[in-house]
Amino acid sequence: MLEATNYKAALQLSIFKTISQAAANLQLESYVIGGFVRDHLLQRGSVKDIDIVAIGSGIELAKEVAKLLPNRPKVQVFKTYGTAMLKTPTVEIEFVGARKESYQKNSRNPIVENGTLQDDQNRRDFTINAMAISLSKDTYGDLLDPFQGTTDLASKIIRTPLDPDITYSDDPLRMMRAIRFATQLDFTIAPQSLQAITKNKDRIQIITKERIVEELHKILRSPKPSIGFLLLEKTGLLAIILPELIALKGIDEVEGQRHKDNFYHTLEVVDNIAQHTEDVWLRWAALLHDIGKAPTKRFHKKIGWTFHSHEFVGAKMVFTLFKRLKMPLNDKMKFVQKMVLMSSRPIVIASDVTDAAVRRLVFDAGDYIEELMTLCEADITTKNPKRFKKYHNNFKIVRQKMIEVEERDHIRNFQPPVSGEEIMKTFSLKPSREIGIIKEAIKEAILEGEIPNEHEAAFEFMIKKGKELGLEAIN
Ligand code: CTP
Repeated sequence: MLEATNYKAALQLSIFKTISQAAANLQLESYVIGGFVRDHLLQRGSVKDIDIVAIGSGIELAKEVAKLLPNRPKVQVFKTYGTAMLKTPTVEIEFVGARKESYQKNSRNPIVENGTLQDDQNRRDFTINAMAISLSKDTYGDLLDPFQGTTDLASKIIRTPLDPDITYSDDPLRMMRAIRFATQLDFTIAPQSLQAITKNKDRIQIITKERIVEELHKILRSPKPSIGFLLLEKTGLLAIILPELIALKGIDEVEGQRHKDNFYHTLEVVDNIAQHTEDVWLRWAALLHDIGKAPTKRFHKKIGWTFHSHEFVGAKMVFTLFKRLKMPLNDKMKFVQKMVLMSSRPIVIASDVTDAAVRRLVFDAGDYIEELMTLCEADITTKNPKRFKKYHNNFKIVRQKMIEVEERDHIRNFQPPVSGEEIMKTFSLKPSREIGIIKEAIKEAILEGEIPNEHEAAFEFMIKKGKELGLEAIN
């Protein structure tokens, strides 16, 4: 049953020798298991976490390893979980004793007992995460793969070691993990597993929002996030986690007029943007840029389908959604809101690019103009090649104009060329409403291109504006 192929090559890090020695000192067996083994076989990226299973006490093993290391790192013990953690300058190592868990029908909490390696492998999430490599001296480097995880890796399949109904019901977060791994690795979820997720979807409610969001982040950070969102939709999980997206699904037709399916459009935009940015918040903005379209959708006999103010409504919905998912309500949320709010601006001006419109766009987008342009370019999903080319060309013109206007007028981190203090001094004013009016008028004149963004011109304009308000300049 146990396949023994040697994988010593996986154990190049010197820490493995140390763990092996520590385990020998304590006369127990130990194995590296889970993500490290999977990622090694996939030749995937750098190692950050290592999971070690001891047949015995994981905590004792961690302490023994620390003793053997030259700098004697501190061992962090999590008594309730029976685990311990050790940090070296490059990796975090988690130690756990092999466990056997049995779940009672009437309780969510498992009865945990010490177990064999096989017991421990049985209770893991996926076959590709249940493979172990031995660190025991006599079997050092042997691969223990009781569920043919290597075969599943080769055929790119996510499968559970046990009946999927049991595996997902034991820990419903695994439903999200299955979809996340399928997205990150471009794997297929085994049909039986997919069915079990659909059946158990409501149990996702017992998982904390933070852990769900962590998986959503990982899906969004993947090269093609739509894989994950389509699976979330298919299994019914998306309707529970992000109903705002499900509301975008479908095409209505009235009097022969149809609108596009905004759900599939959104997923295309997310995939597009994933090719142009690593910024997960900009990817969130792409995911949410059209959520205001469901509540604002109307049909008018003359003009057809409209989504008036969907950007404004959508930006408000961002707050509600972030709050519900216990996501940060800080500058990240504000950034997503701003992107959603401004998401139609560049396309609107692209058909008739005036200097004034570009100056206003740069002024309103502030530091995020680049991100906004990236979002709007990703938003072009038309299948008509002529239109596709036209929109992209128009955006090129907008970008060119942005450079010209910026060189001339420095709108990007706009600082009023005449300060409030100068206005007060010139007209001998106390803090008052007039100062705000004059400042606003100067800003407007600059954005409209009536005056350049320079002190002298702005000062002259201020005198003129003051006169209009009945103010006299004192020398
Ligand atoms: N595991 C599990 N069920 C979970 C979480 C984790 O069975 N809900 C097991 C799997 O064997 C997994 C290992 O614990 O490989 C380590 O979990 P974790 O560090 O969360 O994931 P990795 O597999 O290392 O992958 P990643 O770092 O990409 O999350």
